[in-house]
Formats: sequence, structure tokens, C-alpha cells
Amino acid sequence: MAGLTYLLPSQPIEDVEQYLRAGGGEGLRTARMMGPQTTMDEVADSGLRGRGGSGFPTARKWASVRDAGSGTVYVVANAAEGEPATFKDRSLIRRDPYRIVEGLAIAALAVGATEAFIATKRSFTRELGRLREAVDALTDIGLLEGLRVTVVEGPGEYLFGEEKALLEVVEGRDPLPRLLPPWQHGLFATVPIGWEAGSRSDDFPVSNPTLVNNVETLASVAHILARGALWFRSMGTVDSPGTLLVTVVGAVTHPGVMEVEMGTALDDVLGMCGGPLPDRRLVAALSGVSNQVLLAAEFDVPLTYEDMAARGTSLGAAGFAIYDDSADMVSVTREFSRFLAVESCGQCPACKSGSMAITERLAAIDDGRGTDADLGAIAASLRTVTDANRCYLGTEELNVVSSMLRAFPEAFAQRIEGVTGSSGAVLIPLVVDIADDGTVTYDERHATKLPDWTYVPSDPTR
Ligand SMILES: Cc1cc2nc3c(=O)[nH]c(=O)nc-3n(C[C@H](O)[C@H](O)[C@H](O)COP(=O)(O)O)c2cc1C
Ligand code: SF4
Repeated sequence: MAGLTYLLPSQPIEDVEQYLRAGGGEGLRTARMMGPQTTMDEVADSGLRGRGGSGFPTARKWASVRDAGSGTVYVVANAAEGEPATFKDRSLIRRDPYRIVEGLAIAALAVGATEAFIATKRSFTRELGRLREAVDALTDIGLLEGLRVTVVEGPGEYLFGEEKALLEVVEGRDPLPRLLPPWQHGLFATVPIGWEAGSRSDDFPVSNPTLVNNVETLASVAHILARGALWFRSMGTVDSPGTLLVTVVGAVTHPGVMEVEMGTALDDVLGMCGGPLPDRRLVAALSGVSNQVLLAAEFDVPLTYEDMAARGTSLGAAGFAIYDDSADMVSVTREFSRFLAVESCGQCPACKSGSMAITERLAAIDDGRGTDADLGAIAASLRTVTDANRCYLGTEELNVVSSMLRAFPEAFAQRIEGVTGSSGAVLIPLVVDIADDGTVTYDERHATKLPDWTYVPSDPTR
């Protein structure tokens, strides 16, 4: 699978000597020479947008953390990667963990932090090893001078990657999103936050403003400082410059991760993955579990934030689950909804009970027990599932389920009329591993995960 090799070198960077020979460290040296403000200006000029899912302008986020005032500033690299259909952060860590650590150090310099964390899953043992090796080696050669970097191991839950939950985990607690954003309620806050009366969060105090960036964002920062904002802007579009790591899993011949110029059409990316399986026709794509479904007729869409928005969906973390004409889209909707309902933490009643209720109605329809009343009940729950939520997960439920109902009305109507589905159980494409030979392993255990985050005990007689 050919692609660009800025972020994803064709072979893994084996050690720090190889990294330095390939120009590693150049970005951080340039940032030190420029100083914090000019470094931030360079990132602003590059137009870099966060690759963790929202596409938020990176320099604007940095400025809000730097300018928030009040306390110690921290930086956290988000390497939790728990969204189904994504594997790009793990691919990046496996190939070039050094660039991530260098980008983290540049971000710390720009916002004025002397302590940083990299948070990833305990189960990602290979990636943990690579990250620790990079932090140790770059510390040993003195490149990280003035910055202490700690690698934090977190749980398997999807919510771990949500930035307000990530900070809870760094502080040693469960991944339950806190109320206020990291720039306002940062790590190890020294004043009580979240208990204030009133509705305007802008009036709440700020304590230890903390910057959270995705690891791909940080690796891009290191390249931008080494090569310049103009180099970055020579790729992609005005609103979405640079390169992008894309994951494709599901119904394609060669699933995997590749680096492409932003603005590359999804069609072309699917072509790089060998296209559909023999005698199959592609039907739809879902970018992670967060966004509205994209039908095959829209696969000419350029992969940019603005083009995906113009087609009524979002790029998210550029991880695509692809479905062909063998897929049962009613079952797919049910399983995506079940995933979100299970992973919802329950701090906001509308999100947990709403997504559970929607999943139950979808299950009734999928199992052939459904009526039009179930569709009505789903519509009612979708209207409230985002009420007073602390994080975006409830909106993900709304995005996915409502778009699937709109895109495949006949499939739902036929199932209610008693037409049986075309396929067996749908596996949520939660990627455990993409081996070096391209073999994809999915998490089959998630099917037994319960809404309280425990698992159905395995049958001892088997
Ligand atoms: C439920 C949920 C899960 C998320 N998981 C991840 C994740 O695994 N990795 C990640 O970088 N961002 C994840 N995010 C987005 C983060 O909250 C945050 O926006 C991101 O790390 C910011 O980095 P960026 O500005 O570099 O994109 C998630 C968001 C939500 C709502
Ligand atoms: S919106 Fe859902 S997942 Fe997010 S904090 Fe509230 S209950 Fe938890």
C-alpha cells in the first residue's frame, strides 16, 4: 500500500541514532532558536488542525492554554486510540515514536510547560515499549532538556481517549469525563473546580491549564518546525493543509493505514486498499463511531474537514469502516449503537439511558420483533440523547443512528415487515492489531462487554 512517508516512514525508525541521521531533532532545535511566540506563529501559519477527531486549529488551542493564566501549565499527548476503525496512532508510534516526543517538547516550549505526559492503553504493550524507548533515548542525549516526560498506562475503555477523561486517568482515576475542558480544569488542579453555582462556565476559575493533543498532531508539529509552514501548506487545501493518516478496515481487499495528502478523494484511498472484495459492491462508510454515514455515491469526497462537512458528515480521526452489499445495515446500526451505549459512562442520564433505550429498540427491530412504534420511540430518544452532556459521546449516538435511519429507510421498513436480515452477527471494527503482513484482528470480546463495563463471564464448561 503506497503512500507518503513523512509521518509514516516505510520502515520503522529503529533507534535514536537513525532518527538523528534522518533529521530528527531539527524541529525542536528550530523552536528553541525561534522562541515560544514565533514557534506558535509558525504552527498558526501552517494551518495545522488537530488529528484527534475535531480538527480544531492547533495554534489556537495552544494560545488558549498559554493565555489561560493561573497555575502550572502541563501538556498531554493523547495516544489512547480507542475508536473503532482507527489504528493510525499505533502505526505512527510503531514506525516513529521519536517524532511524537519531539512534537510534545515543541508544544511544551510554546505553552510554557516543563512537565508532560503521554497517555496510552496498558494493552498496547508494543507501543508502550516504543514510546518509553523514545522518551529515554531523547532524554539521555539531552534533547528534552528542561522537560520531564512520563508515559502513563490507561484502561481499555473508549472514553479514555476523551480529553477530560484522559486527565482523570493521568491523575490515577477512572476515565469519567470531568465537567470543564482541560484549558480550564487542568492536571492536578490546585483550586476546587466544578462545584460552582451558575451556568456560565467562563465564570469558573482556571487551574493548571493543560494542553491535550493527539499524537499525530504532535508528530506533524515536529515536521512543521523542521521544514517550515510553507512546506506543510504546499500539501492539502487552504482550510485543511498537510498530510493525513487514514485507517481503512472492513470490506476492502487490503485494509490498513496510509499517509495521504489532505484532499485525496476517499475513492482513491479505497483504490490504494485494493478496492472492494471480489464480486462485491461498496455501499457505505462510517468514520469511526462518531459521524454520519457516507454513502458510496459520495466516495468521491476529498478527505478534508470542509468537504466532509459539506457532505453532511465529519472526517473525525480519518478511520473508515467500509461496508459492502453483503452487510446488513440494520444490524450495523444496532451494533454501533450498542457500542456507544456500553461505552457511555453514565454520568449524564440522557446519554446512558437514551443510548441504551435506542439500542433496545434497534435490537427489537433487528430481531424481527419490531414495529413502527419502535421507530417512533427511537426518534423521541434521539431528540434528547444529547441533553446536558459532559462530552461528545451522546452526539455520536445521534449522528450515527439518525443518519443510518435516513440513509437506509427501506432496510428498516422491510425488517419491520418481517423480511429477515442478510448476514450473521456484525463485529464492531475495534482493531486489536494490524500485523506487519496486513492481517487485521478485531476485538471479539467487546460483544460480551456489559453497560457497567464488566464482561459476561466466560462459560467454564467450554
Ligand atoms: C468519546 C471520545 C473518545 C475520544 N478518543 C480519542 C482518542 O482515542 N485519541 C485522541 O487523540 N482523541 C480522542 N478524542 C478527542 C479528544 O477529546 C481531543 O479532542 C483530542 O485528543 C485533541 O487533540 P487534537 O487537538 O490534537 O485533535 C475522543 C473524543 C471523544 C468524545
Ligand atoms: S455524555 Fe455520556 S459518555 Fe460523556 S460523560 Fe456524559 S454519560 Fe459519560
